Amino acid sequence: MKILVTGATGFLGKTLCLRLTEAGHTVIGLGSRDADLTNSQSLRQYNQSKFERIYHLAAWTQAGDFCLSHPGEQWLINQKLNTTVLSWWQECQFQAKLISIGTSCSYAPDLDTCEENYLNGSPIESLFAYAMTKRMLYVGLQAIHQQFGGSYLYVVPSTLYGPGYHTDDRQLHFIFDLIRKILRGKYYGEPVVLWGDGEQTRELIYLDDFIHSLLALSERGESDIVNIGTGDARSIKSFAQKICEIVKYPFEDIQFDQSKYVGARSKFLNIERLKLHSPSLRFTELDEGLSRTIDWFEQYMPWKKSETLIAR
Ligand SMILES: NC(=O)c1ccc[n+]([C@@H]2O[C@H](COP(=O)([O-])OP(=O)(O)OC[C@H]3O[C@@H](n4cnc5c(N)ncnc54)[C@H](OP(=O)(O)O)[C@@H]3O)[C@@H](O)[C@H]2O)c1
Repeated sequence: MKILVTGATGFLGKTLCLRLTEAGHTVIGLGSRDADLTNSQSLRQYNQSKFERIYHLAAWTQAGDFCLSHPGEQWLINQKLNTTVLSWWQECQFQAKLISIGTSCSYAPDLDTCEENYLNGSPIESLFAYAMTKRMLYVGLQAIHQQFGGSYLYVVPSTLYGPGYHTDDRQLHFIFDLIRKILRGKYYGEPVVLWGDGEQTRELIYLDDFIHSLLALSERGESDIVNIGTGDARSIKSFAQKICEIVKYPFEDIQFDQSKYVGARSKFLNIERLKLHSPSLRFTELDEGLSRTIDWFEQYMPWKKSETLIAR
């Protein structure tokens, strides 16, 4: 199958392209240097190719409190790049199934995170602009499908983790931040200070498990929105405890700074629809996934004091 992937240089995109290529597909993977999607003409160079699938992963965001300080840029950039992809799909590649990625941040914190609620209520204030651009991406898919036809899939992942994360100086997703802090605590005696009281809950999904579900759902004919998570939400404290066990650092030495930004108190996905489509779904055990991630992290991430950051 001929497949185009936007966001191919990202954490998810790199491994997705690898898995698609291993499965024998012809993959064109694009980062912003290959096609800056804020430019509405950037995909014209691929007009003559006829793709069977397009995975639209590109997004301009980072973890931590990045959304708090960049709401305007996030709105402008993400609206542009999503519009470029949707327009190009509808005008030039409508034979392709368009598979796009949402965010759990789009769900309103006071509502059940079932797919029917993706557009209901209000996302948390600190992530509002980013969350709304992801909602608009879904609205765009629905609207184009309703008027013109075409086939789409919109998936909403919980936080991804595993080997192969970014090694530049961007803000890290919470699990990578926890690993770095605890390793530096162990090897350099730095105080390990976590943001918030540690009771906020999060859900992780191992990168390859996510890709497995994504590829299985991509085969389905129906246009749909589906959450992809494990349904296993845990407190930040309990993730920290697991990492401490693996790297052998005393959990009691961890401090909590309640003055810091923590984002949503609770973030986990309702996965009833996913279970309906994939009843025999199995997930990598957290201990195993974390051990593999920590092994990779120790080897490749610039967490040691003498290391300089690797340019992207
Ligand atoms: N990681 C998670 O835990 C998570 C959770 C929920 C949802 N998601 C969603 O899943 C998708 C992939 O996430 P990720 O973690 O792989 O993201 P990522 O590592 O931040 O990668 C983002 C990708 O978007 C590309 N991009 C950014 N601006 C662009 C532009 N103007 N034109 C073209 N490409 C541009 C980047 O290209 P360059 O490398 O060239 O800048 C990169 O390939 C995103 O849509 C994200 O919102 C991720």
